[in-house]
Amino acid sequence: MDLMKIRNETPGAAGRVHLDNAGSSLMPSPVIAAQMDHLKREAEIGGYLAAEEAGVRLEKVYGSVARLIGARSDEIAIMPSATDAWDHAFYSLAQDMEAGDRILTSQTEYRANFVAYLHVKKRRGIQITVIDHDEAGSIDLAALQDAIDSSVKLIALSHVPSSAGHILAAQKVGEIARAAKIPFLLDACQSVGQLHVDVGEIGCDILSATARKFLRGARGMGFLYFRQGLLARTDPVMMTNQGAEWVSPDRYEKRRDARVFEAWERNVAGQLALGAAVDYALDIGIKNIEARVRLLANLLRRGLSQIPDVRIADLGEDLSGIVTFEMRKNAPGEIKAVLEQNGIAGQVAVAEHTLLDMTKRGFNQLVRLSPHYYNTEEEIDRTLNVLNSMRR
Ligand SMILES: Cc1ncc(COP(=O)(O)O)c(C=O)c1O
Repeated sequence: MDLMKIRNETPGAAGRVHLDNAGSSLMPSPVIAAQMDHLKREAEIGGYLAAEEAGVRLEKVYGSVARLIGARSDEIAIMPSATDAWDHAFYSLAQDMEAGDRILTSQTEYRANFVAYLHVKKRRGIQITVIDHDEAGSIDLAALQDAIDSSVKLIALSHVPSSAGHILAAQKVGEIARAAKIPFLLDACQSVGQLHVDVGEIGCDILSATARKFLRGARGMGFLYFRQGLLARTDPVMMTNQGAEWVSPDRYEKRRDARVFEAWERNVAGQLALGAAVDYALDIGIKNIEARVRLLANLLRRGLSQIPDVRIADLGEDLSGIVTFEMRKNAPGEIKAVLEQNGIAGQVAVAEHTLLDMTKRGFNQLVRLSPHYYNTEEEIDRTLNVLNSMRR
């Protein structure tokens, strides 16, 4: 990895330390250019003509995203956010659920997803079974296996939870889901862009992700993967001007690919930027990215573990680029502010994001630092020095 080149192509990295890649990362210059050039073109010739001009490049985005996650391009839909992608998939499956049907999820499930389970529970009387973590801090696979019976209609979980540090054993979950022939919906919002994620290896049927986090794309963009075999059996929860063609006064024809979930209107510049972000990650090599993210996050954890006031809050053994901790005498908000005064961007993870897990472990808020491959060892040291100097 040519770190010097990568940093030169990351204008936001000049003079600041960005450790909030799990929140919203820094776009590299090819991504900024893809977005800005298209916006300029829209201003010059209007949005429709500009989109026509960019037609081939827009189409290529599907292929890039598919390559990133080992899917086929007709299994990809470009959506305005991870939540939008996830909701379209989830509610399409949920419309066939009946009272007594069950969804299996994990203790670290993300708030938007869990609220949707509660919503469907309220409307349809389904049940939510939360699989706890095992002693090693990952999803308890034996408990997951034991929970499977004919009432389970969906297994859905977050691959990398937003505030627990660990990586769920998605591939093992995929094996269980496949053997039981239960659809498996993976929220990969925090894993795509920092980890090697391959839908075939994992064995998930549906995956949702966002552009602005570890993928380093623009805001207001996400994507959905929906496996063809399952798609053919799924009726989308709503029809759109992209999902179906109105062919006669009382008939429409549904698209057969995953774009059935899309709306026609979109942020064209954002889609081009998403394509540029994916190509940028593929050029560097996602396995190289994963190795460096793990290295920097572990360097940070090691340094934190040497500060007496710090308590690292990460769960489990297989750890991601999300590092969570608290300090004995300083509130997370204060720590974030002090880091910011020193030109270091971090984040406060609040209990509501992963309410079950945070409540169970007694956390109200945690500091969340999330390095990416473009960060340097020196930046990690600088951050640790600031934290060390805060001890009272
Ligand atoms: C695990 C997880 N899933 C889903 C989301 C929602 O993503 P978006 O804001 O793009 O809809 C987030 C955002 O933080 C997340 O951390």
